[in-house]
Amino acid sequence: MLIAQALIVVTGALVRLTGSGLGCPDWPTCDGVSITNTPDMGIHGFIEFGNRLLGVVLGLICLATVIMLLRLIAARWDLFLISLALTLVVPVQAVIGGISVHMELNPWIVAAHFVPSAVCVALSAYFVRRTYDAGGPRTPIGTPALRGLAWTIAVLTVIIVIMGVLTTGAGPHAGDEVSARNGLPIVLMARLHAAPVWLLVIATVAGIVAAHRQRLPEVRRPLVVLLIVELAQGVVGYIQYFTGLPVWLVALHMAGLCVVIAASTAVLDSVYRRAPLPPADTLLAPRGRTDLPPEAAAEADAGGSAAAGAESDPTAESGPTAEPGPAGAAQPGADTGAAHGTGAGRGTAPGAGG
Ligand code: HEM
Repeated sequence: MLIAQALIVVTGALVRLTGSGLGCPDWPTCDGVSITNTPDMGIHGFIEFGNRLLGVVLGLICLATVIMLLRLIAARWDLFLISLALTLVVPVQAVIGGISVHMELNPWIVAAHFVPSAVCVALSAYFVRRTYDAGGPRTPIGTPALRGLAWTIAVLTVIIVIMGVLTTGAGPHAGDEVSARNGLPIVLMARLHAAPVWLLVIATVAGIVAAHRQRLPEVRRPLVVLLIVELAQGVVGYIQYFTGLPVWLVALHMAGLCVVIAASTAVLDSVYRRAPLPPADTLLAPRGRTDLPPEAAAEADAGGSAAAGAESDPTAESGPTAEPGPAGAAQPGADTGAAHGTGAGRGTAPGAGG
């Protein structure tokens, strides 16, 4: 999901950077008659229609995720809601993209078309991180100052992205020769876009020092990743600015901004702890059969014999490893299903970190 969201941002930028924004001069059809591009539309029609197709693929990926999560809806309604929101953004984005075509790539509409995708990259990154925990309530960790830094980083990222979008609207890559620019002074916009990047670097370094002092490696790690990617993105930003915005560097900047958004989301999420994920087999065990150990539950799920479950059941109930408790779910090696009771894993993990 995260990769697909980032890909749609980069391919959307390629449409703009190759001047293919009006390659399909109409929407929802490509030219008012054909839904696909035709040979006389040339390479621009091919690129623009290709991007529309990728939007469909993204929608299908989102929809597939929603359908898969239906099975876990009781345990992970949070993941279900996030994937549903991501799915609903796809048709909204299709319509905004259509409006931008009808308005001949008005820079404000093109900007409005980019912003939901940036939000979806953040939401997808959050989604990915949440698949590594058990959901449930979150506990703030670290000092208020460290959490304040994480929030500062998130706000700075938002400001940088908004200023970047305005810089693009003022810049030369409109998406088509006939399209207007937003009329803002590009040099000033680029400075207003780059200045908060320095603040972001300072906040990130401060965060790394604070997380290190507070012995919070789970917060320090995403901060270090963020520092690396924001420095790389900053270098690309300056080089592209001073070399007249070559297409390939701007495309790299687009890919980099997705990584920065994802890394910044990870930092904010890292200052809130949730219960560790119980083993996958316990999550997938059929509901109402929490009394069964994972193998038997899986068998029951697949329509396997109840006798097998009945055989293993007493072991799970009476065995020493069936003791409930968060430690059981979080033990190293907890992935071997027989090493812990299913009921323990499912029943206690979500609240354990509460
Ligand atoms: C954390 C670092 C950075 C992030 C997250 C970032 C993000 C962005 C975003 C979101 C856009 C708009 C993309 C679009 O509307 O399609 C953009 C464009 C731009 N950025 Fe950055 N940026 C960063 C650093 C920099 C730096 C340090 C510079 C140096 C001046 C810079 C120069 C530019 C320029 C010139 C554009 C306009 C490109 C165009 O006309 O197509 N960026 N950036």
